Order: sequence, then C-alpha cells, then structure tokens
Amino acid sequence: MHPGKQAAALAALEYVANDALLGVGTGSTVNVFIDTLAARGPRIQGAVASSEATAERLKSHGIDVLDLNMTGSLELYIDGADEVNPALQLIKGGGGALTREKIIAAASREFLCIVDRSKQVEVLGDFPLPVEVIPMARSFVAREIVRMGADPEYREGPRTDNGNIIIDCYGFSITDPLALEAALNAIPGVVTNGLFAARAADILLVGLDDGKVETIKR
Ligand code: 5RP
Repeated sequence: MHPGKQAAALAALEYVANDALLGVGTGSTVNVFIDTLAARGPRIQGAVASSEATAERLKSHGIDVLDLNMTGSLELYIDGADEVNPALQLIKGGGGALTREKIIAAASREFLCIVDRSKQVEVLGDFPLPVEVIPMARSFVAREIVRMGADPEYREGPRTDNGNIIIDCYGFSITDPLALEAALNAIPGVVTNGLFAARAADILLVGLDDGKVETIKR
C-alpha cells in the first residue's frame, strides 16, 4: 500500500470519537481507513456509506451501515479525493461515487479529506472531471460540455450505484471552481459533477512518503 495513503488514513483515526456516527467515502485511501478503524480505532455506532463497495467493506468488519434518511446530519465525513487545491476544493469521482459522496459531505458538519501528496495541485483540472448523467441525456450533455470548452469521454464499465453513467471531462481549466460546478449542474440530465467547491473539505490530511502527515485547515 502507498505509504502516504496509509499515513493519512491512520491520522484520520484521531478525529473519530467513541460511539461516533460517521460518513465514509469511497476509494483506496478510504479502504485503508476502514481497515485501520476496524483494527485499532475507537468503536463507532455506525456509518453512512457513499457506495455499495464501501458498505460491503464496512459490513465485512462488523460495522453497522446506516441510512442517511434515518441518521439525520452527521458530525464527520471522511473521504479521499482525486485532486485538491489550496482552498481545499476538490475533484472527486474517480471511483464513480461522486453523487452519494456529495450528498453525505453536504449533510455533515465537518469534512475531513485524506490524501497522499500526489493529489495536491495549484489549479484543479488535470484530472478529468467526472460528471454523473442520466443515461438518456448522454449525447445532449456531451454536446453541452464541448460547448463549454472541454472534451467529454463516456466512461466504459458498469453503471453507477444510482443506475447512471459517467462522462469524464478533459481539458477544463478550472480557475473558478464554484462557477464551473454550478454551470455543469445546471445542464438538464446532469445528476451532479465531481467538483466539490460549494462544499469544500474543512480539514485536509496529506500523508507523506516518510509516514509524516501535514494538516491543513480551511
Ligand atoms: C471516489 C473518489 C475517491 O475519493 C477518489 O477517487 C480518490 O480515490 P483513492 O483514495 O483511491 O486515490 O472520489 O469516487
């Protein structure tokens, strides 16, 4: 396992209170967090999962998976990212779980993001921006994305957990993440996009290769 991801995941345990109700994201860094939480973390009440894969992993460790409709707001959401800028705005959705991730992040008081150094950038956009789309709107949304100056690519593979498709957008120069997030979400057929600017992370833990962790707060 990548030492930076491991270091960030381990450091995240410090933020988890006994008996907490946690929001838990998706991806390889979060997988390390889940395994570490189960092995050496405090005992938690349960977790709201941002994907079926995360739900399965939590359950495999005997951690209760709860429905966000039943829990109400959460104290803490822990998730990784594909890119993070100095304002702690993110690109997410490399794993295709962006919509549920965005819902849980919005429903949580604090968003703790765990990454390795390779995810830190000055300007978002080298990583192709994922957009979750209702299947019948695929071509229309792709044309709108071209009109906005990017190059859309249909992501092959299974549908999202919500039964939709993903379009990855190449070549957006994201100098105004808030504006682009809103503009993409305004296209009919778009469920949501992977920019987390309106709801950025609150705390960023950057795991370094030597096992140290840098903490950045917004
Ligand atoms: C999934 C995500 C992940 O947080 C993102 O892809 C980072 O994954 P990893 O921890 O495997 O690098 O947004 O939709």
